[in-house]
Amino acid sequence: MVRKLFLTLAFAALSAFPRISALNFDASTWIWTNEVSGGNAPPGTRAFRKDFVAPLGKTPVQADIIMTVDNGFTLYVNNVSVGTGDDYRFAERFCVPLYSCLNVFAVAATNAATTPNPAGLLAAIEITYSDGTTSTIVSDTTWRYSISVPSGFEDLTFDDNSWPPAIAEGAYGVSPWGQIGIPSNPPVLEISGGNAPPGNRAFRLTYTPPPTQGAPTNATVIIVADNAYTLYVNGFLIGSGTNFHTAQTYTIPLAPANETVFAVFAQNADVVPNPAGLLAAIEINTVGCNCTAGVIRVTDGLGHWKSNTGTPAGFELPGYDDSAWPVATDEAPLGAAPWGTIAVGGPGPATPIGGAPLGL
Ligand SMILES: *[C@@H]1O[C@H](CO)[C@@H](O)[C@H](O)[C@H]1NC(C)=O
Ligand SMILES: *[C@@H]1O[C@H](CO)[C@@H](O)[C@H](O)[C@H]1NC(C)=O
Ligand SMILES: *[C@@H]1O[C@H](CO)[C@@H](O)[C@H](O)[C@H]1NC(C)=O
Ligand SMILES: *[C@@H]1O[C@H](CO)[C@@H](O)[C@H](O)[C@H]1NC(C)=O
Repeated sequence: MVRKLFLTLAFAALSAFPRISALNFDASTWIWTNEVSGGNAPPGTRAFRKDFVAPLGKTPVQADIIMTVDNGFTLYVNNVSVGTGDDYRFAERFCVPLYSCLNVFAVAATNAATTPNPAGLLAAIEITYSDGTTSTIVSDTTWRYSISVPSGFEDLTFDDNSWPPAIAEGAYGVSPWGQIGIPSNPPVLEISGGNAPPGNRAFRLTYTPPPTQGAPTNATVIIVADNAYTLYVNGFLIGSGTNFHTAQTYTIPLAPANETVFAVFAQNADVVPNPAGLLAAIEINTVGCNCTAGVIRVTDGLGHWKSNTGTPAGFELPGYDDSAWPVATDEAPLGAAPWGTIAVGGPGPATPIGGAPLGL
């Protein structure tokens, strides 16, 4: 654990955000290898696998997965790289189709830093069967590990029989990890206790679907800014909000594309520095999977969002090159001062706020 835990997530304040799925870590165990001593494990990458054979008479259709690793991971399902995570404080969420019998969840899990420190893997996987019923797999001592990461360990045909069972480090909630942010249950947001100069700023988020995720069909965006914003998706003006106590909700149809660009023109009003913040949660639904939640992107400290101290011409357009923009600065979780609880309402007007572009 190299990053400092700075959040005490005020989940009570988050209930205004829709609860899309009940998938949680309540029955999950933090696991690692037998190298943990005094709560610390040597840095390095370790391999974990969970082989799942469907119960007799049941045909798995898909898996809804939440996972986090201290410090980071790459997840493979049935030999396909599904996605990565790089901040243990926030789970990543994946929806993947399954085979009808054997399915293999394989993880390359990395403990960062150069000296021994806490390391752990935490997962919950909801399997949906063809008859509509579900069952849940959690990280526990039925997972297996390897201290080396053998080539092809993510393959269905790889034989992990000689791998030892994972070592339990404690139930979800245990120190030093505490509560983990779960996408779609309570988005964690980007809001500051500090002051920022007045003016207009640009933010961009580019979503590229992982290989198994399929093409996007639509997105739900919940967004609020102190003091005001205009939202664009792929260059089109979606709507504006001018009251930082109330977020707006938009459902936006998306053309199937390898990239979807969310851009925000955000305005900090007044003439002297004062609190400024952008807070957003985006659910991207895709074809090819029927999980209750799609891919979730929240404003967070993971570098998904980029920011600019101005609003360069054309910044809202999909082809705009934001590669030189720094990542947005993480301010505070939803519920924190000075903003507190945010109400969530319907869509805002599809007109730009003062100074914002008209879009395509
Ligand atoms: C798993 O993926 C590797 C690399 O893409 C490939 O060479 C191998 O054939 C795959 N295994 C199966 C069982 O499809
Ligand atoms: C997405 O990328 C793939 C590979 O680069 C390409 O073949 C495909 O046409 C692209 N699809 C869209 C909708 O742009
Ligand atoms: C959004 O896409 C999902 C997945 O394709 C679909 O089930 C859902 O009906 C769509 N919602 C809207 C409002 O179009
Ligand atoms: C998703 O659900 C719809 C309606 O029940 C079904 O037609 C479709 O085949 C399902 N897709 C997958 C990938 O399971």
